[in-house]
Amino acid sequence: MNILILGSGGREHALAWAVKQNPKCDRLVCAPGNAGMAAIADCIAVDVMDNDAIVALCKAQNIDFAIIGAENPLANGVADALRAADILTFGPSKKASELESSKAFTKEICDACNAPTAAYARFRELDAAKAYVTEQGAPIVIKADGLAAGKGVIVAMDLQQALDGLDDIFDGAFGDAGTEVVIEEFMDGEEASFFVLSDGKNILPMGTAQDHKRAYDGDKGPNTGGMGAYSPAPVMTNAVTQKALVEIIQPTIDEMARRGTPFQGVLFAGFMIKNGQPRLVEYNVRFGDPECQTLMMRLGAQALDILQACAEGRLDSTRINWANDHAISIVLSADGYPGTYEKGTEIKGLDALNSDSKNMIFHAGTKADGDKVLAIGGRVLNVTARGTTLAEAHERAYAMVDQIDWPEGFHRKDIGWRAL
Ligand code: AMP
Ligand code: GLY
Repeated sequence: MNILILGSGGREHALAWAVKQNPKCDRLVCAPGNAGMAAIADCIAVDVMDNDAIVALCKAQNIDFAIIGAENPLANGVADALRAADILTFGPSKKASELESSKAFTKEICDACNAPTAAYARFRELDAAKAYVTEQGAPIVIKADGLAAGKGVIVAMDLQQALDGLDDIFDGAFGDAGTEVVIEEFMDGEEASFFVLSDGKNILPMGTAQDHKRAYDGDKGPNTGGMGAYSPAPVMTNAVTQKALVEIIQPTIDEMARRGTPFQGVLFAGFMIKNGQPRLVEYNVRFGDPECQTLMMRLGAQALDILQACAEGRLDSTRINWANDHAISIVLSADGYPGTYEKGTEIKGLDALNSDSKNMIFHAGTKADGDKVLAIGGRVLNVTARGTTLAEAHERAYAMVDQIDWPEGFHRKDIGWRAL
């Protein structure tokens, strides 16, 4: 089977690494890819937002199966374009991707299927939104409706912060994503991420993880795409998982099918859990980054069989073989991230590190330059380890981090603290 992985982050490198180990994978193409993927696949430059170019690439490379990594191409309809061209594809349609690309749409679905989530109201006018926030009081949560690279959410602990946030959104801080706002009740509790595959009808839980969104130790500093993750997340006990499946996930999948827009791909649900009750914070329609790195490390080669079964509508007869293991991924970022940072600095020490089924460096914003590896993005490397306990994986991952020579980078030293 010839396989395409669309994207260039650590998530896509982890998918490529797992897929490549499966004997069913004859040829692996990554587009556009990065230095890590270039070592195990053929990388081809493509604009991930150009559906025609992606279809043409698949035809030219005889691709049998396309796996889409990120949300923007999905919201742009790449899965529809590929399926229209008869290419087996992992990832939801443009319409089903609204579960991530419109927070208001997700709220509508929760209402329709009675899924527990924060109470909310929607506004298109600044004055009405401000009046509502003033009446409700703080803490309160303000969200730009559309895709804003994880930055369109303001958790306001006082009223002024909420009013300022509304000014920013209606001033265009998030462009078109902020034409509408969703204002939500503040939920308190512990957060966890749950990844569930759906072929449109059947569901298959794929694992839990916990991310660390803030840039610095102690959950301080600005929000980022994620500075580290571990899997499984202990807060997702069997009882919480069952409740989440029965009260939130399956009803969502059923409602999407009922509307004639079935969801096919991985549904990444963010929950707030309090007193054993999960409530939905948000949906994403793709794997988390860096959560995916921990899931792929735990699944290995079977990831391809599972993603293929999902795309082919066979999840009712598919099982996952879980080892009783734990994985952790530490993100190395360029100094200054998530603000401005230098590009083109050299990373040394990678060759000396082991890469095997328990220790892997997944690349994100890197580029090969001859024998050198250069940092060209904000999040640059994901140092990932698997062990029989989280403590063991944690120790090995940080030992690898210590051997990497990159003075222009930084990382959090407390990934996994909640579970350890
Ligand atoms: P989202 O992009 O919707 O996941 O929001 C980003 C982050 O904001 C979440 O991971 C939560 O930490 C926080 N958040 C979002 N909605 C709420 C809410 N209703 N109550 C408390 N925290 C929230
Ligand atoms: N790590 C969070 C995300 O991928 O959305």
